[in-house]
Amino acid sequence: MPRFGFLIAFATALIGTPGAATPAAAAAAAASTGSAAVSAQAIPLAAAHADSGAGQFRAHCARCHGPQGYGAAKQAIPALAGQRYTYLVAQLGDFAAGARDSDTMHRVVSQKALREPQVRADIAAYLNAAEPSTLPATGDGADVALGRGIFHEQCAACHGADARGSEAAAVPSLRHQHYSYLVAQIHMIAAGYRHNIDENLEFFLRSLDERDVSATADYLSRLH
Ligand code: HEC
Ligand code: HEC
Repeated sequence: MPRFGFLIAFATALIGTPGAATPAAAAAAAASTGSAAVSAQAIPLAAAHADSGAGQFRAHCARCHGPQGYGAAKQAIPALAGQRYTYLVAQLGDFAAGARDSDTMHRVVSQKALREPQVRADIAAYLNAAEPSTLPATGDGADVALGRGIFHEQCAACHGADARGSEAAAVPSLRHQHYSYLVAQIHMIAAGYRHNIDENLEFFLRSLDERDVSATADYLSRLH
C-alpha cells in the first residue's frame, strides 16, 4: 500500500487515531485541511440556537436546499440535514472568504444578514439537528460493490467506516447525499476548487478514474 502511505499518516493526524497522533499534529492537519475548521470552534454548538437557525434557513436557504434541507439532485445542490456542525460552519466561512469556489454560495453568504458568525452558527446547529433525508438520488447501481470496496479501503480512514465524518476534525458526513452532488464534488476537489484542503487529498482524488468516482458516489448515496 505505499501509494496510500501518506493518507494513513494524514488521516491519523487529522482524526487522531489512538496511540499515534499528537494534539499538535492534529491541529496542524486541521489547519492545513480547513483553516475555517479552527474558527468554527469560536462558537461551539452548545452556544448556537437551532430555533433561530430554523427561521434563518427558511428565509435564506430553503428555496435552493429545500424546505427540509434535502437538496436537489438535478442541480447538484447538496442535502444539508444532519450534516456535521463544524463542517457546515467551516464551509460557510470558506464560501464567504473565497476559499471554496462557488459564485452562488459566495453571493448567499455575503448578504449582510449572513455575515454574523452567530447567524451562521445558528443555521448550522439547526441543520445538524435536522432529520437527514432518506431519499437521496442514487446512481444506476451497476458498481455498488466496487464503490463499497474503494470507500472502505481509501476513504473510511477519514470519513469513518459508517461515512458519518468527524465533528472535531470537520470532516463531512457523506451519507444522505445525492449521487450527482458527490460525483461533482469529488471532481471539484480534485480540480482544486477548495483552497483550504491538503493538496495530497486533491492529488489522491485525481487518481480515481471515472468508474471509481461513480461507483463510490453510488455506494454512498445508498447509505441512509
Ligand atoms: C441560489 C441557491 C442557493 C441558496 C439560496 C443557498 N445555497 Fe447553499 N449551495 C448551493 C449550491 C449550488 C451549492 C453547491 C456549491 C458547490 O458546487 O460547491 C451549495 C452548497 C452549500 C453548502 C456546502 C455543503 C457541503 O456538503 O459541502 C452549504 C453548507 C450550504 N450550501 C449552505 C447554505 C446555507 C446555510 C444557505 C442559506 C444561508 C444556502 N446554502 C443558500 C445553492 C444555494
Ligand atoms: C485524508 C483524509 C481524507 C480521505 C482519505 C478522504 N477524504 Fe474526503 N474529505 C476530507 C476532508 C477533510 C473533507 C472536507 C474538505 C473541506 O473542508 O473542504 C472531505 C470532503 C469530501 C467530499 C465533499 C463532501 C461535501 O459534502 O461537499 C467528498 C465527496 C469526499 N470527501 C469524498 C471522498 C472519497 C470518495 C474518498 C475516498 C476515495 C475520500 N473523500 C477520502 C478528508 C478525506
